[in-house]
Amino acid sequence: MTPAAPAGEPAGTDRGRLGRVLVVVPTYDEAENITPIVRRVRAAVPDADVLVVDDASPDGTGEVAERLAAADPHVHVLHRTGKEGLGAAYRAGFAWGSERGYGVLVEMDADGSHQPEELPRLLEALRGADVVLGSRWVPGGRIENWPRSRVLLSRGGNTYTRLALGIDLRDATGGYRAYRSEVLDELDLASVASQGYCFQVDLAWRALERGRRVVEVPITFVERERGASKMSRAIVAEALWRVTAWGLAARGARLRGLLAPRTARDAPAGGVRGATRGRS
Ligand code: GDD
Ligand code: MN
Repeated sequence: MTPAAPAGEPAGTDRGRLGRVLVVVPTYDEAENITPIVRRVRAAVPDADVLVVDDASPDGTGEVAERLAAADPHVHVLHRTGKEGLGAAYRAGFAWGSERGYGVLVEMDADGSHQPEELPRLLEALRGADVVLGSRWVPGGRIENWPRSRVLLSRGGNTYTRLALGIDLRDATGGYRAYRSEVLDELDLASVASQGYCFQVDLAWRALERGRRVVEVPITFVERERGASKMSRAIVAEALWRVTAWGLAARGARLRGLLAPRTARDAPAGGVRGATRGRS
């Protein structure tokens, strides 16, 4: 495992200052869940704004979100024309937030799996990092009511990701995160092709490759009580082939570096950096 190489930062930068926070909540058929989760976010971090990114949910989630936005200037809605996957929804939400000058962009599921009450702890950890991952699989992380099949899928998927990419993340697939927006701006999101949940691995991998400090903090993941998961075989298959392809490309790049003439080899390592797992 490549050791952590936290990003150096120019002296004097006020890293502790985070700026305005936008919680991006992607939705597809979450009409029963969106109101309680928005209410909990507003109570947990009153200064944060919420952006619901709805993919034309047939169950009317978009209309429910519009009513919440009409009653609260901190709540916003981005309507999209059709279901295009978690990755596309987050890319649209991040672009919306970046254009409006938010300093921090948060990922949060709409179904109550991620606890808004834990968000202050993620934001506190972000003061010393570039990306904070809420992690189910670091000491202190917990899951509740998740089917055993999903536990095995998550554990197996994260182990495979660690081995394939050579990164030291315990929960690279998790979807409860906080990014400094200037870091997202440099990850070239326009080139992200990941549609499904491997989008999460994609962004963590890009941040590590650019030497950014990625910290994991423990969270409690609670399986949803209402509605249905959008996880599918196609999402799993996409994650498998993309992570394999990224891993092979990274090995190829490192091999070429080793075989390259001496001068190039002295260049600063552009390869993968392990994550720094914080215990905040
Ligand atoms: N806009 C939009 N479009 N939202 C979507 C789409 C989509 O195509 N697909 C899923 N979502 C939203 C859901 O409405 C929910 O708010 C969130 O994304 C998570 O979807 P779930 O279907 O509940 O995910 P999960 O619980 O099975 O999977 C969890 O674990 C994955 C693997 O660790 C989530 O936390 C994922 O984010 C995580 O990657
Ligand atoms: Mn869920």
